[in-house]
Amino acid sequence: MLDLRNIVKVFDPGTVIAHTALDHLSLHLDEGEFVTIVGSNGAGKSTLFNAICGTFLVDNGSIELDGINMTMMPEHRRALRIGRVFQDPMRGTAPNMTIEENLSLAHSRSTAHPLSFAPSRKQRELFRDRLAQFGMQLEDRMKTKVGLLSGGQRQVVTLLMCTIVTPKLLLLDEHTAALDPATAAKVMEITKQLVSEHHLTTMMITHNMSAALTTGTRTLMMDEGKILFDITGKEREDMTLERLLTMYSNSTSQVFDNDRMLFSKNR
Ligand SMILES: Nc1ncnc2c1ncn2[C@@H]1O[C@H](COP(=O)(O)OP(=O)(O)OP(=O)(O)O)[C@@H](O)[C@H]1O
Ligand SMILES: [Mg+2]
Repeated sequence: MLDLRNIVKVFDPGTVIAHTALDHLSLHLDEGEFVTIVGSNGAGKSTLFNAICGTFLVDNGSIELDGINMTMMPEHRRALRIGRVFQDPMRGTAPNMTIEENLSLAHSRSTAHPLSFAPSRKQRELFRDRLAQFGMQLEDRMKTKVGLLSGGQRQVVTLLMCTIVTPKLLLLDEHTAALDPATAAKVMEITKQLVSEHHLTTMMITHNMSAALTTGTRTLMMDEGKILFDITGKEREDMTLERLLTMYSNSTSQVFDNDRMLFSKNR
């Protein structure tokens, strides 16, 4: 499904601040896999997502998604196949447009028509049904401007926008990190619901170690632009935060630099 082969990305090459953010990284994901990603600050997690989405072209290696080589594909074309939710609830939706207009814009990606934000009656029904599933009463606020919603409500609208046309790949970059614990839990529950309902191939970056080990089926730990550990099955079932950190300190000279992760074990 997703094949990354030998990806390299160097920022500011040839200067004193040259930095290898992705270092010959290879990864294969099967269809429907739900992978969580953890790692120290600056490990290259978001850069990996940027490479997949085409925010920049990689310096080396290839990126294939669902049989199509995307290595040189421009970002806007990859966006038709990839859904991405960021940490910041302000990203991903247009604040001055209503919920239904935002959803309509996302939905029009599936049609041959140009981008449109005036929903048809049929579309409106679809949006209402899908929003009602989440139990947040958003279906009664379809004509509310998205800018007036809470952070959690906006993340849910963004998630629905990303999945209203089933993407080949869903990328979640700490998408609950800016929310209060109760809202974060609700958004995670909705995320799992969407992933399982649409069998989405998903990658989720999180600083919440317990969520990383209990969500999905596989956990990657990144460090210095590489995948340090790829944990699945029984090994993952038995894994604890303490053990993972011991494994980390045994295999790198780096200090695990992610306070949020270390202090949020119980969240
Ligand atoms: N556009 C850029 N220009 C220069 N350096 C960059 C750029 N984007 C990222 N980097 C650097 O690449 C490295 C990896 O950054 P990245 O944002 O991928 O880390 P991360 O694993 O997502 O960390 P965090 O947990 O803090 O979000 C960092 O050293 C960062 O400073
Ligand atoms: Mg990041």
